[in-house]
Amino acid sequence: MIIAIDGPAAAGKGTLAQNLAKHFKYAFLDTGRLYRAVGFAVLEQNQDPSDPYYAITCAKKFDPKNINSILKNPLLREEATGNAASKVAVIPEVRAALLDLQRDFAEHPFFEDGTSAKGAVLDGRDIGTVVCPNAEIKFFVTASAEVRANRRFKELNDAGKIASYEKILQDIKERDFRDSNRSSAPLKPAEDAYILDTSNLNATQAFQKALDLISQNHL
Ligand code: CDP
Repeated sequence: MIIAIDGPAAAGKGTLAQNLAKHFKYAFLDTGRLYRAVGFAVLEQNQDPSDPYYAITCAKKFDPKNINSILKNPLLREEATGNAASKVAVIPEVRAALLDLQRDFAEHPFFEDGTSAKGAVLDGRDIGTVVCPNAEIKFFVTASAEVRANRRFKELNDAGKIASYEKILQDIKERDFRDSNRSSAPLKPAEDAYILDTSNLNATQAFQKALDLISQNHL
């Protein structure tokens, strides 16, 4: 069983994906972290994430066996890393280098301790359209850019980080544009995805709505 969750930045995909994974006892993969890890590796070399040479080299170095430890790096959550991720994610060869790893996980999901799971929840931008077009359940989670910027702003504030709402909103809009307009695997809902607008839903309500849709249509 594969649950694919796509959507723009800060729409609530990650929280929903983790809640569903916990509920069904499935393994979870935040595929954005793979792109973040590549963007981070390029930034660490003081290079430009839009430069295909460095981005492709870093993506190809990714060792699937070390996936858990690489993706745990707390610096991957930084805003600068997210912006770098969306720049490397435009490059088709970077996407190709990360594709098998994501499909392998979906087909043979495993938990952090290495034990195998009977299902997988993947969240990202192209899971329902490209990585797992055959996923049994697909969600496209969205919310207005202003609501999403506000959520990110609160998250950063709560973590004690100084942030400007206007700058976050601008970054989100730029990232939405880059993610939606790239030629390789652009951000868009799969035809058979349930659209979940979380602008007026908190995390619990979004989870409940997703569970209702699953039980009405799939159980
Ligand atoms: O957490 P947030 O929604 O801010 O972003 P993320 O899911 O960590 O993804 C960071 C960036 O990686 C996105 O802006 C996308 O450009 C890229 N990405 C992608 O292209 N395909 C995916 N399956 C996941 C992420």
